[in-house]
Amino acid sequence: MTSNTPSNEDPSNLPNQTGNKPTIPAPVLRENPEPTNASEPIPLALTSIFFVIIFIAGIYLALNSGGFRSDVFSPDLVSWSGAGAGGPAAPVDPKVVGKRIFTQNCIACHQSTGLGMAGQWPPLVASEWVVGGDWVADNHLVGILLHGLQGAIQVKGATYNNAMPQWKQLKDDQIAAVLTYIRSEWGNAAAPISAEYVKSIRDKTIDRTEPWSQKELKAMPAESAGASVTPAAPAPAAPATPAAPAAASAGAKSTPSA
Ligand code: HEC
Repeated sequence: MTSNTPSNEDPSNLPNQTGNKPTIPAPVLRENPEPTNASEPIPLALTSIFFVIIFIAGIYLALNSGGFRSDVFSPDLVSWSGAGAGGPAAPVDPKVVGKRIFTQNCIACHQSTGLGMAGQWPPLVASEWVVGGDWVADNHLVGILLHGLQGAIQVKGATYNNAMPQWKQLKDDQIAAVLTYIRSEWGNAAAPISAEYVKSIRDKTIDRTEPWSQKELKAMPAESAGASVTPAAPAPAAPATPAAPAAASAGAKSTPSA
Protein backbone atom coordinates (compact mmCIF):
# COMPACT_ATOMS: atom_id res chain seq x y z
CA MET A 1 0.00 0.00 0.00
CA THR A 2 2.03 2.79 -1.33
CA SER A 3 0.94 6.33 -1.81
CA ASN A 4 2.11 6.52 -5.44
CA THR A 5 -0.05 3.59 -6.64
CA PRO A 6 -2.45 5.06 -9.27
CA SER A 7 -5.96 5.18 -7.89
CA ASN A 8 -8.99 4.12 -9.95
CA GLU A 9 -11.10 6.79 -8.43
CA ASP A 10 -9.08 9.86 -8.98
CA PRO A 11 -8.74 10.69 -12.69
CA SER A 12 -6.09 13.22 -11.95
CA ASN A 13 -3.85 10.36 -10.95
CA LEU A 14 -4.54 8.31 -14.09
CA PRO A 15 -2.04 8.60 -16.82
CA ASN A 16 -3.54 9.54 -20.21
CA GLN A 17 -2.59 7.95 -23.51
CA THR A 18 0.59 9.88 -23.74
CA GLY A 19 1.43 8.90 -20.26
CA ASN A 20 1.11 12.47 -19.06
CA LYS A 21 -1.28 13.55 -16.41
CA PRO A 22 -4.44 15.26 -17.78
CA THR A 23 -4.26 19.00 -17.87
CA ILE A 24 -7.82 19.54 -16.58
CA PRO A 25 -7.64 19.75 -12.85
CA ALA A 26 -9.63 17.25 -10.85
CA PRO A 27 -12.05 19.68 -9.16
CA VAL A 28 -13.17 20.92 -12.60
CA LEU A 29 -13.73 17.39 -13.87
CA ARG A 30 -15.95 16.66 -10.88
CA GLU A 31 -18.23 19.62 -11.67
CA ASN A 32 -21.81 19.06 -12.93
CA PRO A 33 -22.65 20.56 -16.30
CA GLU A 34 -23.52 24.25 -16.25
CA PRO A 35 -27.30 24.72 -15.74
CA THR A 36 -29.05 25.96 -18.85
CA ASN A 37 -32.33 27.83 -19.23
CA ALA A 38 -35.63 26.22 -20.32
CA SER A 39 -34.12 23.11 -21.64
CA GLU A 40 -35.65 20.73 -19.13
CA PRO A 41 -39.22 19.38 -19.61
CA ILE A 42 -41.78 20.22 -16.89
CA PRO A 43 -41.76 17.38 -14.39
CA LEU A 44 -44.56 14.89 -14.97
CA ALA A 45 -45.83 15.27 -11.42
CA LEU A 46 -46.31 19.00 -11.83
CA THR A 47 -48.04 18.56 -15.17
CA SER A 48 -50.51 16.11 -13.69
CA ILE A 49 -51.25 18.45 -10.79
CA PHE A 50 -52.15 21.17 -13.31
CA PHE A 51 -54.44 18.79 -15.17
CA VAL A 52 -56.18 17.80 -11.94
CA ILE A 53 -56.71 21.48 -11.03
CA ILE A 54 -58.11 22.29 -14.49
CA PHE A 55 -60.37 19.24 -14.29
CA ILE A 56 -61.76 20.24 -10.88
CA ALA A 57 -62.22 23.82 -12.04
CA GLY A 58 -64.13 22.53 -15.06
CA ILE A 59 -66.49 20.52 -12.88
CA TYR A 60 -67.01 23.53 -10.62
CA LEU A 61 -67.83 25.78 -13.56
CA ALA A 62 -70.18 23.26 -15.10
CA LEU A 63 -72.09 22.91 -11.84
CA ASN A 64 -72.20 26.56 -10.82
CA SER A 65 -72.19 28.64 -13.96
CA GLY A 66 -75.99 28.69 -14.21
CA GLY A 67 -75.74 27.69 -17.83
CA PHE A 68 -73.55 30.76 -18.44
CA ARG A 69 -76.67 32.91 -18.57
CA SER A 70 -76.23 36.52 -17.57
CA ASP A 71 -79.73 36.71 -16.17
CA VAL A 72 -79.80 33.76 -13.78
CA PHE A 73 -80.27 36.01 -10.78
CA SER A 74 -82.73 38.31 -12.44
CA PRO A 75 -86.05 38.53 -10.62
CA ASP A 76 -87.75 38.67 -14.03
CA LEU A 77 -86.52 35.25 -14.91
CA VAL A 78 -89.31 32.79 -14.35
CA SER A 79 -89.31 30.62 -17.45
CA TRP A 80 -85.87 29.12 -17.19
CA SER A 81 -86.34 25.46 -16.50
CA GLY A 82 -83.43 25.07 -14.14
CA ALA A 83 -80.47 22.72 -14.47
CA GLY A 84 -81.70 20.90 -17.52
CA ALA A 85 -84.60 19.35 -15.66
CA GLY A 86 -86.88 20.04 -18.60
CA GLY A 87 -89.93 20.64 -16.44
CA PRO A 88 -91.64 24.01 -16.15
CA ALA A 89 -90.08 26.25 -13.53
CA ALA A 90 -92.04 26.88 -10.38
CA PRO A 91 -93.48 30.41 -10.57
CA VAL A 92 -91.58 32.96 -8.55
CA ASP A 93 -93.39 33.66 -5.31
CA PRO A 94 -94.45 37.33 -5.46
CA LYS A 95 -93.97 37.56 -1.71
CA VAL A 96 -90.31 36.61 -2.06
CA VAL A 97 -89.77 39.12 -4.85
CA GLY A 98 -91.90 41.64 -2.99
CA LYS A 99 -89.86 41.28 0.17
CA ARG A 100 -86.69 41.96 -1.77
CA ILE A 101 -88.17 45.04 -3.41
CA PHE A 102 -89.42 46.20 -0.03
CA THR A 103 -86.00 45.71 1.53
CA GLN A 104 -84.34 47.62 -1.27
CA ASN A 105 -86.76 50.53 -1.49
CA CYS A 106 -89.06 50.94 1.47
CA ILE A 107 -87.25 49.79 4.59
CA ALA A 108 -85.42 53.06 5.14
CA CYS A 109 -88.66 54.75 6.06
CA HIS A 110 -91.28 52.13 6.83
CA GLN A 111 -88.77 49.82 8.62
CA SER A 112 -88.52 46.06 8.26
CA THR A 113 -91.19 45.72 10.93
CA GLY A 114 -93.55 47.80 8.78
CA LEU A 115 -94.16 50.00 11.81
CA GLY A 116 -92.52 53.13 10.45
CA MET A 117 -91.54 55.80 12.95
CA ALA A 118 -94.02 57.77 15.00
CA GLY A 119 -94.61 61.26 13.65
CA GLN A 120 -92.42 60.71 10.61
CA TRP A 121 -93.00 57.54 8.60
CA PRO A 122 -96.47 56.02 8.82
CA PRO A 123 -96.91 52.32 9.61
CA LEU A 124 -97.95 49.78 6.99
CA VAL A 125 -99.02 47.24 9.59
CA ALA A 126 -102.82 47.24 9.79
CA SER A 127 -102.84 50.53 7.90
CA GLU A 128 -106.16 51.27 6.18
CA TRP A 129 -104.11 52.50 3.20
CA VAL A 130 -102.61 49.07 2.77
CA VAL A 131 -105.45 46.71 3.58
CA GLY A 132 -108.34 49.01 2.70
CA GLY A 133 -110.52 51.23 4.89
CA ASP A 134 -113.49 53.58 4.97
CA TRP A 135 -112.67 55.24 1.71
CA VAL A 136 -109.16 53.99 0.80
CA ALA A 137 -109.15 51.21 -1.76
CA ASP A 138 -106.83 49.36 -4.10
CA ASN A 139 -106.73 52.09 -6.73
CA HIS A 140 -105.56 54.63 -4.12
CA LEU A 141 -102.85 52.30 -2.86
CA VAL A 142 -101.49 51.58 -6.34
CA GLY A 143 -101.80 55.28 -7.14
CA ILE A 144 -99.61 56.43 -4.24
CA LEU A 145 -96.99 53.84 -5.11
CA LEU A 146 -96.87 55.09 -8.70
CA HIS A 147 -96.89 58.81 -8.02
CA GLY A 148 -96.08 59.36 -4.34
CA LEU A 149 -98.02 61.02 -1.56
CA GLN A 150 -97.54 64.28 0.30
CA GLY A 151 -99.22 66.56 2.79
CA ALA A 152 -101.22 65.71 5.87
CA ILE A 153 -102.64 62.19 5.94
CA GLN A 154 -104.29 60.07 8.63
CA VAL A 155 -103.06 56.57 9.28
CA LYS A 156 -104.72 54.58 12.06
CA GLY A 157 -105.97 57.79 13.65
CA ALA A 158 -102.57 59.51 13.70
CA THR A 159 -101.68 62.39 11.41
CA TYR A 160 -98.52 62.41 9.33
CA ASN A 161 -97.39 65.31 7.22
CA ASN A 162 -94.44 64.28 5.16
CA ALA A 163 -93.67 63.13 1.64
CA MET A 164 -93.48 59.68 0.14
CA PRO A 165 -91.48 59.46 -3.10
CA GLN A 166 -92.98 58.04 -6.28
CA TRP A 167 -92.06 54.54 -7.45
CA LYS A 168 -93.14 54.69 -11.09
CA GLN A 169 -89.63 53.66 -12.08
CA LEU A 170 -90.46 50.18 -10.75
CA LYS A 171 -92.11 47.84 -13.23
CA ASP A 172 -95.76 46.81 -12.95
CA ASP A 173 -94.90 43.36 -11.68
CA GLN A 174 -92.46 44.79 -9.14
CA ILE A 175 -95.04 47.19 -7.72
CA ALA A 176 -97.57 44.37 -7.70
CA ALA A 177 -95.11 42.15 -5.85
CA VAL A 178 -94.19 44.72 -3.18
CA LEU A 179 -97.86 45.54 -2.59
CA THR A 180 -98.73 41.86 -2.40
CA TYR A 181 -95.95 41.55 0.15
CA ILE A 182 -97.03 44.44 2.40
CA ARG A 183 -100.65 43.29 2.19
CA SER A 184 -99.82 39.83 3.48
CA GLU A 185 -96.95 40.46 5.89
CA TRP A 186 -97.00 41.39 9.60
CA GLY A 187 -100.49 40.00 10.06
CA ASN A 188 -101.95 42.02 7.16
CA ALA A 189 -104.34 39.85 5.17
CA ALA A 190 -105.53 41.60 2.03
CA ALA A 191 -105.81 40.13 -1.46
CA PRO A 192 -102.77 40.20 -3.74
CA ILE A 193 -102.42 42.94 -6.35
CA SER A 194 -101.77 41.84 -9.94
CA ALA A 195 -99.36 43.37 -12.40
CA GLU A 196 -102.28 43.88 -14.81
CA TYR A 197 -104.07 45.96 -12.21
CA VAL A 198 -100.97 48.10 -11.61
CA LYS A 199 -100.72 48.59 -15.36
CA SER A 200 -104.35 49.68 -15.60
CA ILE A 201 -103.83 52.34 -12.91
CA ARG A 202 -100.54 53.40 -14.51
CA ASP A 203 -102.28 53.85 -17.86
CA LYS A 204 -105.12 55.81 -16.30
CA THR A 205 -102.77 58.20 -14.47
CA ILE A 206 -100.01 58.31 -17.06
CA ASP A 207 -100.05 62.13 -17.32
CA ARG A 208 -99.63 62.69 -13.62
CA THR A 209 -96.33 64.18 -12.46
CA GLU A 210 -97.21 65.38 -8.93
CA PRO A 211 -97.56 63.29 -5.79
CA TRP A 212 -101.12 62.83 -4.59
CA SER A 213 -102.63 64.55 -1.60
CA GLN A 214 -105.08 62.79 0.70
CA LYS A 215 -107.78 65.25 -0.42
CA GLU A 216 -107.33 64.34 -4.09
CA LEU A 217 -107.38 60.64 -3.36
CA LYS A 218 -110.51 60.96 -1.24
CA ALA A 219 -112.24 62.52 -4.23
CA MET A 220 -111.34 59.51 -6.33
CA PRO A 221 -114.04 56.79 -6.26
CA ALA A 222 -112.88 53.61 -4.55
CA GLU A 223 -112.10 50.73 -6.85
CA SER A 224 -111.18 47.17 -6.02
CA ALA A 225 -108.48 45.24 -7.83
CA GLY A 226 -111.10 42.52 -8.09
CA ALA A 227 -111.45 39.20 -6.38
CA SER A 228 -110.56 37.32 -9.53
CA VAL A 229 -107.07 38.72 -9.86
CA THR A 230 -104.32 36.21 -10.36
CA PRO A 231 -101.51 36.37 -7.81
CA ALA A 232 -99.01 39.00 -8.75
CA ALA A 233 -96.28 36.72 -10.00
CA PRO A 234 -94.02 38.69 -12.33
CA ALA A 235 -94.86 37.17 -15.69
CA PRO A 236 -92.54 37.31 -18.70
CA ALA A 237 -94.15 40.05 -20.75
CA ALA A 238 -97.49 38.29 -20.92
CA PRO A 239 -100.01 40.15 -23.05
CA ALA A 240 -102.92 41.73 -21.23
CA THR A 241 -105.50 39.23 -20.07
CA PRO A 242 -108.32 38.63 -22.52
CA ALA A 243 -110.75 39.09 -19.61
CA ALA A 244 -111.20 42.81 -20.23
CA PRO A 245 -112.35 42.61 -23.90
CA ALA A 246 -114.54 39.61 -23.09
CA ALA A 247 -116.21 41.52 -20.28
CA ALA A 248 -116.60 44.54 -22.54
CA SER A 249 -118.28 42.56 -25.30
CA ALA A 250 -120.51 40.81 -22.79
CA GLY A 251 -121.54 44.22 -21.53
CA ALA A 252 -122.19 45.40 -25.11
CA LYS A 253 -124.35 42.36 -25.83
CA SER A 254 -126.39 42.78 -22.69
CA THR A 255 -127.00 46.50 -23.23
CA PRO A 256 -129.62 46.23 -26.05
CA SER A 257 -131.62 43.58 -24.24
CA ALA A 258 -131.77 45.68 -21.10
C1 HEC B 1 -88.34 58.43 1.99
C2 HEC B 1 -89.15 57.66 2.88
C3 HEC B 1 -90.12 56.66 2.27
C4 HEC B 1 -89.85 55.59 1.48
C5 HEC B 1 -88.50 55.14 0.97
C6 HEC B 1 -91.11 54.94 1.24
N1 HEC B 1 -92.11 55.60 1.86
FE1 HEC B 1 -94.06 55.09 1.91
N2 HEC B 1 -94.51 56.79 2.90
C7 HEC B 1 -93.57 57.72 3.36
C8 HEC B 1 -94.26 58.82 3.95
C9 HEC B 1 -93.60 60.04 4.59
C10 HEC B 1 -95.62 58.57 3.84
C11 HEC B 1 -96.76 59.51 4.28
C12 HEC B 1 -96.84 60.63 3.28
C13 HEC B 1 -97.58 61.85 3.80
O1 HEC B 1 -97.37 62.19 4.97
O2 HEC B 1 -98.30 62.46 3.03
C14 HEC B 1 -95.74 57.26 3.21
C15 HEC B 1 -96.92 56.61 2.96
C16 HEC B 1 -97.04 55.32 2.48
C17 HEC B 1 -98.26 54.56 2.42
C18 HEC B 1 -99.63 55.04 2.86
C19 HEC B 1 -99.68 55.30 4.33
C20 HEC B 1 -99.51 54.06 5.15
O3 HEC B 1 -98.73 54.12 6.13
O4 HEC B 1 -100.09 53.01 4.85
C21 HEC B 1 -97.94 53.35 1.88
C22 HEC B 1 -98.88 52.20 1.61
C23 HEC B 1 -96.52 53.36 1.60
N3 HEC B 1 -96.00 54.56 1.99
C24 HEC B 1 -95.84 52.30 1.04
C25 HEC B 1 -94.48 52.37 0.68
C26 HEC B 1 -93.80 51.36 -0.08
C27 HEC B 1 -94.43 50.06 -0.55
C28 HEC B 1 -92.53 51.78 -0.27
C29 HEC B 1 -91.41 51.12 -1.06
C30 HEC B 1 -91.67 50.85 -2.44
C31 HEC B 1 -92.40 53.06 0.40
N4 HEC B 1 -93.61 53.38 0.94
C32 HEC B 1 -91.25 53.78 0.49
C33 HEC B 1 -92.22 57.61 3.25
C34 HEC B 1 -91.54 56.66 2.49
